[in-house]
Amino acid sequence: MSIDFSQEDFETQQPLVTTSLLREDEGEYSLRPKALSDYIGQKKAKENLSVFIEAAKMRGEPLDHVLLHGPPGLGKTTLSGIIANEMGVNIRITSGPAIEKPGDLAALLTNLAENDILFVDEIHRLNRSVEEILYPAMEDFAIDIIIGKGPSANSIRLDLPRFTLIGATTRAGQLSAPLRDRFGVTLRLELYSPEELALIVTRSAGILGVPIEEEGAMEIARRSRGTPRIANRMLRRVRDFAQVKAGGVITRKVADAALTALEVDHLGLDAVDRRMLSSIIRHYGGGPVGLETLAATINEEAITLEDVYEPYLMQMGFLTRTPRGRCVTQRAYEHLGLPVPGGSAGLDQLSL
Ligand code: ADE
Repeated sequence: MSIDFSQEDFETQQPLVTTSLLREDEGEYSLRPKALSDYIGQKKAKENLSVFIEAAKMRGEPLDHVLLHGPPGLGKTTLSGIIANEMGVNIRITSGPAIEKPGDLAALLTNLAENDILFVDEIHRLNRSVEEILYPAMEDFAIDIIIGKGPSANSIRLDLPRFTLIGATTRAGQLSAPLRDRFGVTLRLELYSPEELALIVTRSAGILGVPIEEEGAMEIARRSRGTPRIANRMLRRVRDFAQVKAGGVITRKVADAALTALEVDHLGLDAVDRRMLSSIIRHYGGGPVGLETLAATINEEAITLEDVYEPYLMQMGFLTRTPRGRCVTQRAYEHLGLPVPGGSAGLDQLSL
C-alpha cells in the first residue's frame, strides 16, 4: 500500500487541537495500525467490518462500498488502509475537493485494478457533475463518456474493474440521497474513551521509543478530546517537554505541565472551547444562540465550531443543541468558574 500526502493535505498553522492533518502528522503513518486486530476502539464498526471482509474474501469479490462518517481525526483513513491490507488490495487516496472534473474521476477509476479500493475523503464535497459519474461506476462498474460536442456528440460506455469505494465524511447529512443509497455498508465512528486513547498513546509511545508511565498516558488521553490524532500530536509535544525538562520519561506530572503550558485544560478544552462557552454565557445569557452568530462573535468559522469543537463539548456535557440554537449547561459555568445564574429564568436556559 502506498500513500502520498500532497501539500494541500496540510494546514499551515499548527494549533494543537485542530483535527485537520498537519505537516507533523505525516509521521503519524508509522503510528497507524496495519491490521484490524491492532486497531483500538470502535468495537462495533470493527466487528461488522471483519465479517464483511471475511465474507468478501471467501467469495473472491470486492468489498461492498463503505461509507465512514463521524468527527474528524478518529481514524477513517487509518481504517481504510487496514481494510485494504486485510483484503490484500491496493488503495488510492483522494478527496472530494481534489476531484474537480468528471475527467479527474474517470482517470482515477480507469487506473484501478480489480478489487482495488478508492478512498474519497470529504466525499460530501464532490461536485454534482462528478457525483453523477460515480453513480453508474458504483452500481454497474461502468462509466459513460461523452465524446464530441453538439449533435455529433456520442456516448460510449467504458467498463471498469470491480472496485470498492470508501467514502469518508464528517457530515453524512450533507450527502445526496442517491449517493448515500449506493453504499452497502455505513459505519459511524464514535469519539474514543480515555481508556482507549491511553492504549493508543501507549502503543504510539512504544513505536516512537518514548518511555511513558501508565498515568502519563492517561493524562494525555483525558485531555485529547476523544481523538487519536490529537492524542498522538500531544504525545509528541509532551515528549519534547519530557526530554528537555524531565529526563525523558513521560509521567503524569510532565504531561500535566506540558499540556497546561500549551493551554489545554485538565478536561482537554483549549482556548477556543473556553471562548465559545464563555461567549454564550457573557453575550447571550447562556443561550440559545445560533451557530453563525456565535461563530461571528468569537471570530471562528461556523463549520469549524460545528465539526471540531461541538462534538466534544456536547459529549462532555458542556453544550446542548436546541432547535433555537446552542445553550451551555450548568457544568460549563462550573468548569469556567463562573457563578451559575439563579432564579427560574436562568435555570430554564441551562437545559439540565
Ligand atoms: N492510531 C490512530 N488511531 C488508532 C486506533 N484506533 N488504534 C490504534 N492506533 C491508532
